[in-house]
Amino acid sequence: MTLTIDIARSVPRDVGAVGIPVASEGPVPRSLGLSRARLTDLGFDGRAGQTLVVPAATGPTLIAVGIGSRKERNPRTLRNAAAALARAAAKHTSLATTLADVEGASNRAAAQAIVEGFILASYRFTNHKSDKPKGGLSHVVLVAGASSEAAITAGARRGSVIAEAVTVARDLANTPPAYLTARHMAERAEEIAATNGLEIEVFGKEELERMGCGGILGVNQGSVEPPRLVKLVYRPSNPSGHVALVGKGVMYDSGGISLKPSDGMHVMMKMDMSGAAAVLATMSTLKALRCKTQVTGYLCCTDNLPSGSAFKLGDVLTFRNGKTAEIHNTDAEGRLVLADGLSLAVEDKPDAMIDIATLTGAVMSALGTRIAGILGNDQKWVQQIINSGDHVDELLWQLPLHRDYRRLLDSSVADMKNVGGPYGGVITAALFLQEFVGKVPWAHLDIAGTMNSDSDDVWLSRGATAFGTRTLIDVVTSFARP
Ligand code: BES
Ligand code: MN
Ligand code: ZN
Repeated sequence: MTLTIDIARSVPRDVGAVGIPVASEGPVPRSLGLSRARLTDLGFDGRAGQTLVVPAATGPTLIAVGIGSRKERNPRTLRNAAAALARAAAKHTSLATTLADVEGASNRAAAQAIVEGFILASYRFTNHKSDKPKGGLSHVVLVAGASSEAAITAGARRGSVIAEAVTVARDLANTPPAYLTARHMAERAEEIAATNGLEIEVFGKEELERMGCGGILGVNQGSVEPPRLVKLVYRPSNPSGHVALVGKGVMYDSGGISLKPSDGMHVMMKMDMSGAAAVLATMSTLKALRCKTQVTGYLCCTDNLPSGSAFKLGDVLTFRNGKTAEIHNTDAEGRLVLADGLSLAVEDKPDAMIDIATLTGAVMSALGTRIAGILGNDQKWVQQIINSGDHVDELLWQLPLHRDYRRLLDSSVADMKNVGGPYGGVITAALFLQEFVGKVPWAHLDIAGTMNSDSDDVWLSRGATAFGTRTLIDVVTSFARP
């Protein structure tokens, strides 16, 4: 279901609901027909994200939506308010609101955040439901004043491009593994490249053999489904820099010979391609957003399955850059596919790189399900990405890339093992990846904890979150060489 967003100068007559922004201080808009005292009695104090449905005898339903105090009014609170409003208005098909035209926020940034909030909170994955939910919010009208209309139109457009990309990434991650193999992922990338002005190259098994991508091939060995490495390039004229994005695309992670137990976590392993989905979704927006930076994206796609042909503990894999790793756990497969992707990305000599991966359960223990881990070899670059995350409300927390822990990866037969000890798993995973980035400024995002949401929560909808997509878009569209 897509949500149409329109801009108008007044509330259209035929809308089902009208969202009326109410601050936590100052006057209450007269159109609501309720006093501050009455609202307080009803338990509504205007906190950002609070909603109150006010039934009307005739005409549209009025919905008060809290926008907090003026000093906390920013894209984040407005995105949350819009998401709450979308949920409160879910019974209606159309909604009008002046939420993009409130005091204390730039109209452009507000409109962008609000459109993101509406689209992301309305997201549902129903492809495999026989009983598809009918109706639902399908039309939002942003009411704008004469002086704010242009900025609101521009912001809303940017917001819809970004939120639609997040929707694409969520759909990919929510899709059951039989419906989204590495080959399907490459086909989706072909479609997206064709409609969004991207160059694309897809490498299959034989090509990966010729290229020496022993990591992707090793992980793929147990599967009857062939792997795919997808390279996408967005090339603007006179680029202001070049960023490479590398995504873990483990289409389904059973753990391989180090088989995972059949618990709820294992069921989520269809989402182990969330990093690749975030990269693909990011690439899809760059032309529409007129990104000035050249961006190369690598999707490292294969499943990880046990069979008579699967790679084994004790095996040694040789990666694209010539380094070798002794396998101590076939469930530490993400770093193996990323090793080849990062090695290839370095060969393009980008100004900076980011890899994004559902890499470790350890990051979930450390930071939970709302904050992703970030590590890197260049503090300015790491900080740039953290700032983008703050900007789009995807929280990142830096963990140390502590060199002393490198010895935990020492192997007696190869250049390294593919796992460290029982502790510090986020760090040892990142130290493994660092072996493949050369001297390029690089950051690693571990989104294992944040890839899924157990419940609807502001703009997060239950299921795949597409975490990182909006951060990556912000990073590359505001890129300055670190
Ligand atoms: N895909 C998993 C990590 C994961 C865990 C993602 C939970 C999302 C939620 C990854 O491939 C994995 O299995 N990592 C192992 C590494 C270990 C064997 C060193 C882990 O974290 O247990
Ligand atoms: Mn694994
Ligand atoms: Zn995995």
